[in-house]
Amino acid sequence: MSLKILGIESSCDDTSAAVLCDTLMYSNVINTQKIHENYGGVVPELASRAHQQNIVLVVQEAISQSGFTLEEIDLIAFTKGPGLLGSLLVGTSFAKGLALATGKPILGVNHLHGHLLAHMLRDKNQEPFKAKFPYLCLLVSGGHTQIVLVKDYLKFEILGKTIDDAAGEAFDKCARVLGLSYPGGPEIDKLAKSGRRDAFLFNKPRIIDLDFSFSGLKTSFLYSLRDNLKQNPTFIEENIEDLAASLQNTIVEILLEKLQKAVKLTGVTEIAVSGGVSANSGLRKSLIELACLKKWELHLPELKFTTDNAAMIALIGHFMYISGEFSGLDVLPQARLNFTDF
Ligand code: KG4
Ligand code: ZN
Repeated sequence: MSLKILGIESSCDDTSAAVLCDTLMYSNVINTQKIHENYGGVVPELASRAHQQNIVLVVQEAISQSGFTLEEIDLIAFTKGPGLLGSLLVGTSFAKGLALATGKPILGVNHLHGHLLAHMLRDKNQEPFKAKFPYLCLLVSGGHTQIVLVKDYLKFEILGKTIDDAAGEAFDKCARVLGLSYPGGPEIDKLAKSGRRDAFLFNKPRIIDLDFSFSGLKTSFLYSLRDNLKQNPTFIEENIEDLAASLQNTIVEILLEKLQKAVKLTGVTEIAVSGGVSANSGLRKSLIELACLKKWELHLPELKFTTDNAAMIALIGHFMYISGEFSGLDVLPQARLNFTDF
Protein backbone atom coordinates (compact mmCIF):
# COMPACT_ATOMS: atom_id res chain seq x y z
CA MET A 1 0.00 0.00 0.00
CA SER A 2 1.34 3.44 -0.87
CA LEU A 3 1.65 6.08 1.80
CA LYS A 4 0.24 9.55 1.06
CA ILE A 5 1.58 12.34 3.24
CA LEU A 6 0.56 15.99 3.46
CA GLY A 7 3.58 18.07 4.53
CA ILE A 8 3.28 21.52 6.10
CA GLU A 9 6.20 23.95 6.57
CA SER A 10 5.96 27.33 8.34
CA SER A 11 9.19 27.74 10.31
CA CYS A 12 10.30 31.09 8.87
CA ASP A 13 8.96 33.18 5.97
CA ASP A 14 7.81 30.47 3.55
CA THR A 15 4.31 29.03 3.88
CA SER A 16 4.47 25.68 2.13
CA ALA A 17 2.40 22.52 1.72
CA ALA A 18 3.20 19.41 -0.28
CA VAL A 19 1.82 15.97 -1.01
CA LEU A 20 4.10 12.95 -1.33
CA CYS A 21 3.03 9.45 -2.31
CA ASP A 22 5.76 7.22 -0.86
CA THR A 23 8.92 9.21 -1.64
CA LEU A 24 7.64 10.82 -4.84
CA MET A 25 6.35 14.38 -4.91
CA TYR A 26 2.86 15.08 -6.31
CA SER A 27 2.75 18.77 -5.32
CA ASN A 28 4.87 21.34 -3.48
CA VAL A 29 3.33 24.79 -3.12
CA ILE A 30 5.52 27.53 -1.64
CA ASN A 31 4.33 31.04 -0.80
CA THR A 32 7.39 33.16 0.01
CA GLN A 33 6.35 36.19 2.03
CA LYS A 34 7.32 39.40 0.26
CA ILE A 35 6.46 41.73 3.13
CA HIS A 36 9.91 41.37 4.76
CA GLU A 37 11.76 42.86 1.76
CA ASN A 38 11.09 46.35 3.13
CA TYR A 39 12.66 45.58 6.51
CA GLY A 40 16.04 44.03 5.65
CA GLY A 41 15.18 40.77 7.41
CA VAL A 42 12.30 38.58 8.54
CA VAL A 43 9.98 40.35 11.02
CA PRO A 44 8.61 37.53 13.24
CA GLU A 45 5.25 39.18 13.99
CA LEU A 46 4.58 39.86 10.31
CA ALA A 47 5.71 36.34 9.36
CA SER A 48 3.18 34.64 11.65
CA ARG A 49 0.36 36.90 10.43
CA ALA A 50 1.23 36.14 6.80
CA HIS A 51 1.29 32.38 7.56
CA GLN A 52 -2.23 32.75 9.02
CA GLN A 53 -3.39 34.43 5.82
CA ASN A 54 -1.71 31.92 3.51
CA ILE A 55 -1.94 28.52 5.10
CA VAL A 56 -5.49 27.48 4.18
CA LEU A 57 -5.05 28.43 0.53
CA VAL A 58 -1.58 26.88 0.28
CA VAL A 59 -2.77 23.55 1.74
CA GLN A 60 -5.87 23.52 -0.49
CA GLU A 61 -3.71 24.22 -3.53
CA ALA A 62 -1.20 21.48 -2.65
CA ILE A 63 -3.96 18.88 -2.25
CA SER A 64 -5.69 19.99 -5.44
CA GLN A 65 -2.45 19.97 -7.51
CA SER A 66 -1.55 16.50 -6.20
CA GLY A 67 -4.64 14.93 -7.76
CA PHE A 68 -5.47 13.20 -4.45
CA THR A 69 -8.31 14.13 -2.11
CA LEU A 70 -7.95 15.05 1.55
CA GLU A 71 -9.69 11.77 2.43
CA GLU A 72 -6.91 9.82 0.68
CA ILE A 73 -4.15 11.41 2.81
CA ASP A 74 -2.73 8.96 5.41
CA LEU A 75 -0.62 11.31 7.52
CA ILE A 76 -0.06 15.01 8.20
CA ALA A 77 3.63 15.85 8.77
CA PHE A 78 4.48 19.38 9.88
CA THR A 79 7.55 21.33 11.00
CA LYS A 80 7.59 21.51 14.79
CA GLY A 81 10.95 23.34 15.03
CA PRO A 82 13.43 24.93 15.06
CA GLY A 83 12.27 28.31 13.79
CA LEU A 84 10.25 31.38 14.73
CA LEU A 85 7.78 30.41 17.45
CA GLY A 86 4.86 32.45 16.08
CA SER A 87 5.38 30.99 12.61
CA LEU A 88 5.71 27.42 13.90
CA LEU A 89 2.53 27.87 15.94
CA VAL A 90 0.52 28.53 12.78
CA GLY A 91 1.66 25.30 11.05
CA THR A 92 1.38 23.23 14.24
CA SER A 93 -2.11 24.50 15.09
CA PHE A 94 -3.27 24.01 11.53
CA ALA A 95 -1.98 20.41 11.47
CA LYS A 96 -3.66 19.66 14.81
CA GLY A 97 -6.95 21.22 13.69
CA LEU A 98 -6.92 19.17 10.50
CA ALA A 99 -6.08 16.02 12.47
CA LEU A 100 -8.99 16.63 14.85
CA ALA A 101 -11.39 17.29 11.99
CA THR A 102 -10.34 14.28 9.89
CA GLY A 103 -9.09 11.77 12.46
CA LYS A 104 -5.74 11.49 10.61
CA PRO A 105 -2.45 10.98 12.47
CA ILE A 106 0.10 13.80 12.76
CA LEU A 107 3.86 13.87 13.01
CA GLY A 108 6.04 16.79 14.13
CA VAL A 109 9.25 16.98 12.07
CA ASN A 110 12.60 18.62 12.80
CA HIS A 111 13.06 21.18 10.00
CA LEU A 112 16.83 20.57 9.76
CA HIS A 113 16.32 16.87 9.08
CA GLY A 114 14.22 17.88 6.08
CA HIS A 115 17.11 19.85 4.57
CA LEU A 116 19.46 16.85 4.95
CA LEU A 117 17.27 14.67 2.71
CA ALA A 118 16.10 17.40 0.28
CA HIS A 119 18.37 16.20 -2.56
CA MET A 120 16.47 12.87 -2.55
CA LEU A 121 13.19 14.47 -3.61
CA ARG A 122 11.90 13.40 -7.02
CA ASP A 123 8.78 14.34 -8.97
CA LYS A 124 6.00 11.80 -9.47
CA ASN A 125 7.09 10.99 -13.04
CA GLN A 126 10.73 10.29 -12.01
CA GLU A 127 12.41 7.21 -10.59
CA PRO A 128 12.67 7.22 -6.77
CA PHE A 129 16.14 8.25 -5.52
CA LYS A 130 18.34 5.35 -4.40
CA ALA A 131 20.16 6.59 -1.32
CA LYS A 132 23.68 5.47 -0.41
CA PHE A 133 24.84 5.82 3.19
CA PRO A 134 26.86 7.26 4.77
CA TYR A 135 27.09 10.64 3.10
CA LEU A 136 28.26 14.07 4.16
CA CYS A 137 25.76 16.90 3.91
CA LEU A 138 26.85 20.53 3.83
CA LEU A 139 23.79 22.31 5.21
CA VAL A 140 23.99 26.03 4.45
CA SER A 141 20.99 28.23 5.10
CA GLY A 142 20.04 31.56 6.64
CA GLY A 143 20.04 30.08 10.13
CA HIS A 144 22.46 27.14 9.93
CA THR A 145 25.86 26.14 8.58
CA GLN A 146 26.81 22.57 9.36
CA ILE A 147 28.61 19.53 8.06
CA VAL A 148 26.55 16.48 8.95
CA LEU A 149 27.42 12.81 8.63
CA VAL A 150 24.19 11.13 7.50
CA LYS A 151 24.39 7.46 8.47
CA ASP A 152 20.83 6.50 7.53
CA TYR A 153 17.51 8.23 6.75
CA LEU A 154 17.04 9.21 10.39
CA LYS A 155 20.59 8.86 11.79
CA PHE A 156 22.67 12.04 11.79
CA GLU A 157 25.85 13.28 13.44
CA ILE A 158 27.02 16.90 13.33
CA LEU A 159 30.75 17.05 12.52
CA GLY A 160 31.06 20.85 12.40
CA LYS A 161 28.86 23.91 12.79
CA THR A 162 29.10 27.66 12.83
CA ILE A 163 30.17 29.27 16.07
CA ASP A 164 28.55 32.61 15.14
CA ASP A 165 26.75 33.65 11.93
CA ALA A 166 25.41 31.24 9.32
CA ALA A 167 26.66 31.44 5.70
CA GLY A 168 23.29 32.84 4.55
CA GLU A 169 23.48 35.50 7.27
CA ALA A 170 26.94 36.50 6.01
CA PHE A 171 25.50 36.95 2.49
CA ASP A 172 22.47 38.84 3.80
CA LYS A 173 24.31 41.14 6.22
CA CYS A 174 27.03 42.08 3.71
CA ALA A 175 24.40 42.62 1.02
CA ARG A 176 22.57 44.98 3.33
CA VAL A 177 25.72 47.09 3.76
CA LEU A 178 25.89 47.29 -0.03
CA GLY A 179 22.32 48.65 -0.05
CA LEU A 180 20.83 45.49 -1.61
CA SER A 181 17.37 44.21 -0.72
CA TYR A 182 16.57 41.22 1.51
CA PRO A 183 17.35 38.37 1.09
CA GLY A 184 20.76 39.48 -0.09
CA GLY A 185 22.18 36.06 -1.06
CA PRO A 186 20.44 35.86 -4.46
CA GLU A 187 21.31 39.54 -5.15
CA ILE A 188 25.02 38.93 -4.48
CA ASP A 189 24.84 35.82 -6.65
CA LYS A 190 23.42 37.83 -9.61
CA LEU A 191 25.98 40.66 -9.29
CA ALA A 192 28.88 38.26 -8.81
CA LYS A 193 28.32 36.81 -12.28
CA SER A 194 29.82 39.93 -13.86
CA GLY A 195 32.48 40.63 -11.21
CA ARG A 196 36.09 39.55 -10.59
CA ARG A 197 36.32 37.14 -7.68
CA ASP A 198 39.93 38.06 -6.90
CA ALA A 199 39.36 41.84 -6.96
CA PHE A 200 39.26 42.17 -3.15
CA LEU A 201 40.63 40.10 -0.29
CA PHE A 202 38.62 39.59 2.89
CA ASN A 203 39.63 37.85 6.12
CA LYS A 204 39.01 34.13 6.40
CA PRO A 205 38.59 32.53 9.86
CA ARG A 206 41.34 30.42 11.37
CA ILE A 207 39.52 27.59 13.09
CA ILE A 208 41.32 24.28 13.15
CA ASP A 209 38.45 21.78 13.49
CA LEU A 210 35.35 21.44 11.29
CA ASP A 211 33.53 24.43 12.79
CA PHE A 212 32.78 27.59 10.81
CA SER A 213 32.85 31.29 11.64
CA PHE A 214 31.54 34.13 9.48
CA SER A 215 31.48 37.11 11.84
CA GLY A 216 35.12 38.01 11.11
CA LEU A 217 34.44 38.06 7.38
CA LYS A 218 31.46 40.35 7.92
CA THR A 219 33.62 42.76 9.96
CA SER A 220 36.46 42.63 7.42
CA PHE A 221 33.97 43.38 4.62
CA LEU A 222 32.50 46.29 6.58
CA TYR A 223 35.91 47.82 7.44
CA SER A 224 37.13 47.48 3.87
CA LEU A 225 34.05 49.34 2.61
CA ARG A 226 34.37 52.01 5.30
CA ASP A 227 38.05 52.68 4.44
CA ASN A 228 37.43 52.79 0.71
CA LEU A 229 34.35 55.02 1.06
CA LYS A 230 36.50 57.57 2.92
CA GLN A 231 38.68 57.92 -0.20
CA ASN A 232 35.88 57.56 -2.73
CA PRO A 233 32.22 58.18 -1.82
CA THR A 234 31.02 56.30 -4.92
CA PHE A 235 33.24 53.27 -4.21
CA ILE A 236 30.31 50.86 -3.80
CA GLU A 237 28.52 51.89 -7.02
CA GLU A 238 31.77 51.68 -9.01
CA ASN A 239 32.80 48.26 -7.63
CA ILE A 240 29.58 46.48 -6.71
CA GLU A 241 30.06 43.50 -9.06
CA ASP A 242 33.67 42.95 -7.95
CA LEU A 243 32.68 43.30 -4.29
CA ALA A 244 29.88 40.74 -4.72
CA ALA A 245 32.14 38.29 -6.61
CA SER A 246 34.98 38.59 -4.07
CA LEU A 247 32.63 38.17 -1.10
CA GLN A 248 30.92 35.17 -2.69
CA ASN A 249 34.27 33.61 -3.53
CA THR A 250 35.48 33.99 0.07
CA ILE A 251 32.33 32.36 1.48
CA VAL A 252 32.55 29.50 -1.04
CA GLU A 253 36.25 28.95 -0.20
CA ILE A 254 35.51 28.83 3.55
CA LEU A 255 32.75 26.26 2.99
CA LEU A 256 34.72 24.07 0.61
CA GLU A 257 37.91 24.06 2.70
CA LYS A 258 35.93 22.57 5.61
CA LEU A 259 34.09 20.12 3.40
CA GLN A 260 37.39 18.81 2.02
CA LYS A 261 38.67 18.45 5.55
CA ALA A 262 35.55 16.47 6.54
CA VAL A 263 36.05 14.14 3.57
CA LYS A 264 39.67 13.61 4.61
CA LEU A 265 38.73 12.86 8.23
CA THR A 266 35.85 10.48 7.48
CA GLY A 267 36.88 8.94 4.16
CA VAL A 268 33.27 9.52 2.99
CA THR A 269 33.09 10.74 -0.62
CA GLU A 270 29.31 10.68 -1.10
CA ILE A 271 28.43 14.39 -0.78
CA ALA A 272 25.16 16.34 -0.62
CA VAL A 273 24.50 20.02 -0.10
CA SER A 274 21.31 21.71 1.05
CA GLY A 275 19.66 24.87 2.40
CA GLY A 276 19.06 28.24 0.76
CA VAL A 277 22.75 28.98 0.12
CA SER A 278 23.05 25.75 -1.89
CA ALA A 279 21.20 27.66 -4.63
CA ASN A 280 24.28 29.87 -5.02
CA SER A 281 25.66 29.45 -8.55
CA GLY A 282 29.28 30.04 -7.47
CA LEU A 283 29.04 27.38 -4.76
CA ARG A 284 27.37 24.90 -7.12
CA LYS A 285 29.98 25.46 -9.84
CA SER A 286 32.91 25.09 -7.43
CA LEU A 287 31.34 21.97 -5.88
CA ILE A 288 30.92 20.36 -9.30
CA GLU A 289 34.56 21.13 -10.21
CA LEU A 290 35.85 19.86 -6.86
CA ALA A 291 33.73 16.69 -7.00
CA CYS A 292 35.06 15.97 -10.48
CA LEU A 293 38.65 16.53 -9.37
CA LYS A 294 38.37 14.50 -6.16
CA LYS A 295 36.07 11.83 -7.62
CA TRP A 296 33.26 12.55 -5.14
CA GLU A 297 29.68 11.45 -5.82
CA LEU A 298 27.90 14.82 -5.60
CA HIS A 299 24.16 15.28 -5.00
CA LEU A 300 22.95 18.81 -5.67
CA PRO A 301 19.29 19.42 -4.85
CA GLU A 302 17.11 20.92 -7.57
CA LEU A 303 16.87 24.69 -7.03
CA LYS A 304 13.23 24.43 -5.92
CA PHE A 305 14.32 22.18 -3.01
CA THR A 306 17.19 24.36 -1.78
CA THR A 307 15.00 26.80 0.16
CA ASP A 308 12.37 25.94 2.75
CA ASN A 309 9.66 23.65 1.38
CA ALA A 310 7.08 21.21 2.71
CA ALA A 311 8.10 18.34 0.42
CA MET A 312 11.28 17.76 2.46
CA ILE A 313 9.20 17.77 5.67
CA ALA A 314 6.82 15.18 4.20
CA LEU A 315 9.82 13.06 3.15
CA ILE A 316 11.13 12.91 6.72
CA GLY A 317 7.52 12.21 7.78
CA HIS A 318 7.55 9.22 5.43
CA PHE A 319 10.65 7.66 7.01
CA MET A 320 9.50 8.43 10.58
CA TYR A 321 6.07 6.90 9.90
CA ILE A 322 7.48 3.66 8.54
CA SER A 323 9.75 3.41 11.59
CA GLY A 324 6.66 3.66 13.81
CA GLU A 325 6.83 7.29 15.00
CA PHE A 326 3.78 9.48 15.70
CA SER A 327 3.03 12.67 17.59
CA GLY A 328 0.14 13.16 20.00
CA LEU A 329 -2.27 16.08 19.72
CA ASP A 330 -0.40 17.65 22.65
CA VAL A 331 2.72 18.17 20.45
CA LEU A 332 4.10 21.70 20.80
CA PRO A 333 6.22 23.82 18.45
CA GLN A 334 9.81 24.27 19.64
CA ALA A 335 11.71 27.35 18.51
CA ARG A 336 14.98 25.88 19.78
CA LEU A 337 14.65 22.24 18.81
CA ASN A 338 18.07 20.55 18.93
CA PHE A 339 19.47 18.95 15.82
CA THR A 340 19.44 15.48 17.41
CA ASP A 341 15.80 15.76 18.61
CA PHE A 342 12.93 14.12 16.75
O1 KG4 B 1 17.09 27.53 3.72
P1 KG4 B 1 16.55 28.90 3.64
O2 KG4 B 1 15.49 29.19 2.62
O3 KG4 B 1 15.94 29.37 4.99
C1 KG4 B 1 16.50 29.08 6.23
O4 KG4 B 1 17.36 29.88 6.66
O5 KG4 B 1 16.11 28.02 6.80
O6 KG4 B 1 17.81 29.88 3.41
C2 KG4 B 1 17.68 31.26 3.25
C3 KG4 B 1 19.07 31.82 3.02
C4 KG4 B 1 19.11 33.35 2.99
O7 KG4 B 1 20.16 33.77 3.82
C5 KG4 B 1 19.39 33.67 1.52
O8 KG4 B 1 20.10 34.87 1.32
C6 KG4 B 1 20.20 32.47 1.11
O9 KG4 B 1 19.58 31.38 1.76
N1 KG4 B 1 20.20 32.29 -0.35
C7 KG4 B 1 21.30 32.44 -1.12
C8 KG4 B 1 20.90 32.23 -2.47
N2 KG4 B 1 19.56 31.92 -2.45
C9 KG4 B 1 19.16 31.96 -1.15
N3 KG4 B 1 22.57 32.76 -0.79
C10 KG4 B 1 23.46 32.85 -1.80
N4 KG4 B 1 23.16 32.68 -3.10
C11 KG4 B 1 21.89 32.36 -3.47
N5 KG4 B 1 21.61 32.17 -4.77
ZN1 ZN C 1 15.48 25.96 6.31
